Amino acid sequence: MKYKIAVVGATGLVGQVMLKILEEYNFPVSELIPVASSKSIGKKIVFFHKEWEVQGVERALEKRPDIAIFSAGAEFSKTYAPKFVKQGSVVIDNSSAWRLENDVPLIVPEVNADHIGPTDKIIANPNCSTIQLVVALAPLHQSLSLNRLIVATYQSVTGSGVKAVEQLDNERKGDYSVLFYPHQIDLNLLPHGGDFVENGYTKEEMKLVNESRKILGLPDLKVTTTVVRVPVKGGHGEAVTAEFEKDFDVRDVRDVLAMSKSVTLQDNPSQNVYPMPRYAEGKDDVFVGRLRKDLFNEKTLNFWIVSDNLRKGAATNAVQIAEYLISNKFI
Ligand SMILES: NC(=O)c1ccc[n+]([C@@H]2O[C@H](COP(=O)([O-])OP(=O)(O)OC[C@H]3O[C@@H](n4cnc5c(N)ncnc54)[C@H](OP(=O)(O)O)[C@@H]3O)[C@@H](O)[C@H]2O)c1
Repeated sequence: MKYKIAVVGATGLVGQVMLKILEEYNFPVSELIPVASSKSIGKKIVFFHKEWEVQGVERALEKRPDIAIFSAGAEFSKTYAPKFVKQGSVVIDNSSAWRLENDVPLIVPEVNADHIGPTDKIIANPNCSTIQLVVALAPLHQSLSLNRLIVATYQSVTGSGVKAVEQLDNERKGDYSVLFYPHQIDLNLLPHGGDFVENGYTKEEMKLVNESRKILGLPDLKVTTTVVRVPVKGGHGEAVTAEFEKDFDVRDVRDVLAMSKSVTLQDNPSQNVYPMPRYAEGKDDVFVGRLRKDLFNEKTLNFWIVSDNLRKGAATNAVQIAEYLISNKFI
């Protein structure tokens, strides 16, 4: 059985990696429908050794894809996801548009694939920084019961799309004329991800709070976050302080993580082994290291997570959801 797949936002950072991962995973595609904005219609994309032409969204709708994977922003998803569903597609959406809707499952397959039901037609892919966080936390929560989380992120410019990467690249060549971010990003840190909201946090920070609660099934989990954009490509880093209900031995925590799906333990400080974006780039796993107990609280663990935000943080997760739909015959 092969499937008609629309990749919406095919020319964007996530969309391009999506195409690569569909190939790498040998996804059963009968027809690719690459979709982008009007400025890209007609561009050629090579996929599984064949050329496919980028199309507009209306044309893609007429083709009634079995699965439509959206990576074209929240506004687009709000308008078009219901239209694709009406045409018989299942939509896997990378934007924030549907993530917190009660009747839309928000899925990281290793953690909560069982939240997808046969009648779900829109499935939300979480934010990149949330995905890597819950992949590492879910197995620990299972044995230790998570109580409180403090997260500081160090987010790659690739998390903000093509224009953000252009800004960094231009600045490295000495051209500071076009800003995507409100400030220079090269040789700088911006404690600012997404718009600021009324409570003083940013939208990106509130995504981490609300999405991790929903995925872990802990609506009252105490989460506090600081999102920082860093002049890095390749992956997001997260410094995590996790307080549990139960005491633990760090060696047991290491064992649990070492055995967890999609986690690679990189925790050998004496050999300078710890997760880094340079190493995580291009890989699908979530890398965890710098595991240590809090100095003043026996039930609190400090650690460091890195993952490629374009892969597990976006495209890989979406393709794994699509695989789950197929293997469970939901499509
Ligand atoms: N970057 C990440 O790490 C990451 C992680 C998780 C989720 N996401 C989400 O994924 C989405 C895409 O992010 P990105 O980083 O790939 O952004 P991007 O590099 O800016 O790409 C945006 C894509 O959307 C297309 N697009 C824009 N408006 C469109 C329209 N009206 N109709 C059809 N296509 C349209 C663009 O086409 P053109 O090339 O023709 O303009 C491009 O292909 C966003 O919702 C983002 O929040 C991103």
